[in-house]
Amino acid sequence: MLPKLLLLSFTILRAAQAIAPFSWNNETFLLHGEPYRIIGGQMDPQRIPNELWADRLAKARAMGLNTIFSYIFWDQLEPTQGAWDFSGNNDIAKYFRTAQEQGLNVVLRPGPYICGEHEWGGFPAWLSEVPGMVVRTDNEPFMAASKSYIDRLAEDIADLGVTKGGPILMVQVENEYGSYGSNHKYVAELRDIIKEAFELPLYTNDGGEKSMLEGGQIPGALAETDGDPQVGFKARNKYVTNPSSLGPELDGEYYVTWLDQWASNYTHQTDVGNIQAIQKVQSDLTWILKNNGSFSIYMFHGGTNWGFQNGADWGANLEPITTSYDYGAPLDESGRTNEIYNALRETIGNYVGKDTIPDTLKEEPLITIPEIQLKPAANLFDYLPKPVTKKSPVNMEALGQSTGLTLYRHVITSPINGTLAPGDYPRDRVLVYVNGKRAGVIDSTYEVPNTVRLALKKNDVLDLLIENLGRVNYGPRIVDQRKGIVGNVTVGGNVLSNWQMYPLPLDAPPISSAKHSVHSTSSGPAFFTGTFDVDTVGDTYLELPGWTKGVVWVNGVNLGRYWIVGPQQTLYLPGCYLQKSGNKITVLALEPTGDEGSVRGITTRNWGNNPDPDAP
Ligand SMILES: *[C@@H]1O[C@H](CO)[C@@H](O)[C@H](O)[C@H]1NC(C)=O
Ligand SMILES: *[C@@H]1O[C@H](CO)[C@@H](O)[C@H](O)[C@H]1NC(C)=O
Ligand SMILES: *[C@@H]1O[C@H](CO)[C@@H](O)[C@H](O)[C@H]1NC(C)=O
Ligand SMILES: *[C@@H]1O[C@H](CO)[C@@H](O)[C@H](O)[C@H]1NC(C)=O
Ligand SMILES: *[C@@H]1O[C@H](CO)[C@@H](O)[C@H](O)[C@H]1NC(C)=O
Repeated sequence: MLPKLLLLSFTILRAAQAIAPFSWNNETFLLHGEPYRIIGGQMDPQRIPNELWADRLAKARAMGLNTIFSYIFWDQLEPTQGAWDFSGNNDIAKYFRTAQEQGLNVVLRPGPYICGEHEWGGFPAWLSEVPGMVVRTDNEPFMAASKSYIDRLAEDIADLGVTKGGPILMVQVENEYGSYGSNHKYVAELRDIIKEAFELPLYTNDGGEKSMLEGGQIPGALAETDGDPQVGFKARNKYVTNPSSLGPELDGEYYVTWLDQWASNYTHQTDVGNIQAIQKVQSDLTWILKNNGSFSIYMFHGGTNWGFQNGADWGANLEPITTSYDYGAPLDESGRTNEIYNALRETIGNYVGKDTIPDTLKEEPLITIPEIQLKPAANLFDYLPKPVTKKSPVNMEALGQSTGLTLYRHVITSPINGTLAPGDYPRDRVLVYVNGKRAGVIDSTYEVPNTVRLALKKNDVLDLLIENLGRVNYGPRIVDQRKGIVGNVTVGGNVLSNWQMYPLPLDAPPISSAKHSVHSTSSGPAFFTGTFDVDTVGDTYLELPGWTKGVVWVNGVNLGRYWIVGPQQTLYLPGCYLQKSGNKITVLALEPTGDEGSVRGITTRNWGNNPDPDAP
């Protein structure tokens, strides 16, 4: 028996030497003291129906991945300030527990800024209305809101850290901050907030360039890169010198392909059918593994920008992201594996040993749904909520609204002619009506938006129906992502005063049953409804032949936007949102032409570009 004192000192010694569950040295990550190679892939819970999480995670494991990287969308968790929603697809804790059950570890990427082609890079729209707010900087209101979000998220998931037996290995601070700025005080404050909330190892992820790495790195967080691994790893080791930011190399976003944007001049971006491109991916990943590196494939599975969750880029004009976030990923939008998946499974298997990877899963066939006839059910303008009346128009956020459409109505008091300016610039797509008849479309998606000239008489009703096409998620424009109207509306340079404003967030269609009357679909936006049965419940892609632009709901779920311009021509409808009989479908046709009438479900996706009927 050991003397008591000796036992005590032995215990203290053991505690001091206790192995951190997840750590690293200069060469490798260490999980429970053993070298650990991160063979990762990105998959964001909030883009996948929670009913399908287990399936998608099992398929990740069956491709040979050992770690899932996940962005968290703050705007979905806190849709209005202080009101939290961790239910359904926002149940992040459940998603991570499911990942662990499937044999996967997790890397948490909570932002608060995440980019991710998501609405405003994850920021909730209400931030715009907080006095003094400037996002992505050490601004008191922004740091306070960020801390409250990180702390609330940690309440739900901090006990899932690897230190407590959970799957979360480490946490990313900010996202590619060095592509945006160089305010180290900001990143340091954020690092401390995240450190305190999660008590887990931290890392930053930046592009593989000098300015990006210098701007984004912060002592106490491992500095990692994304993009081309050969460029990134070299740059990291050259431009990061603080020992506390050095360690094993991780390509935190290895891009298999790239995203899709509405009104693009290319069709769907994918390597499917392109053997050479797939071989390049295989050789890049093999190179990483041979060089003792780790990676996360962006995206392993992209999923869907349900409802109005897509973000947008801004080049010379607004470039909104499509409803589909397929991203040319190994696991496609419907959760089916493709030849990229098989090729990467092979590459990973060669490295980890094929027998260590679980078998691939059986996949149910997609279903077809024969033509569903839809009937016009209601004019949108007949189902307006109570308006807010003000002398000058206010932006969408000031009306308490985040996404969807807002109708701005003005009654002409004296004759006025000239060009219409809907505020400082169109935010984003402005459908113009005079006395209920369409008078033009002004849209920031066009490099040079249309000019709409009006000749208005006393008592004419001018309606501006403005759609938020997705807040910009990347670049300097994120500082101001207010939507609707900012500034004055002028016609021929004359300010129009006195407005009625109708928020139309359209999470659900405002009509509840099909028993409505419709006076005309020739000009204004209209709802069309129908019901359908299926022989077998399963996944399908909805096709809307002849429809121009709008939104689709099935059984109350907003499946997202459709737009004839493409490249997306079908909407993913997962079987988990269907039942055998009495399925309800509602379509809001924003620009009905008279050709609308039917929708059908098909088993393959259509991609393609069409001329925009409203283009300048
Ligand atoms: C890790 O690398 C850094 C920078 O090259 C060096 O200063 C440090 O001594 C190394 N640490 C170990 C444990 O080898
Ligand atoms: C698409 O547009 C971009 C930017 O304007 C241009 O560089 C590119 O050549 C175009 N591609 C095609 C296929 O037209
Ligand atoms: C990879 O790590 C092993 C073990 O630490 C080491 O022997 C080898 O030299 C490393 N290879 C490269 C390319 O760095
Ligand atoms: C506006 O234009 C119409 C014809 O386009 C013309 O009849 C009218 O006099 C003009 N009104 C004003 C106020 O200029
Ligand atoms: C809008 O018009 C009003 C009235 O002419 C003017 O006082 C105000 O400064 C204008 N606002 C902007 C942002 O131009």
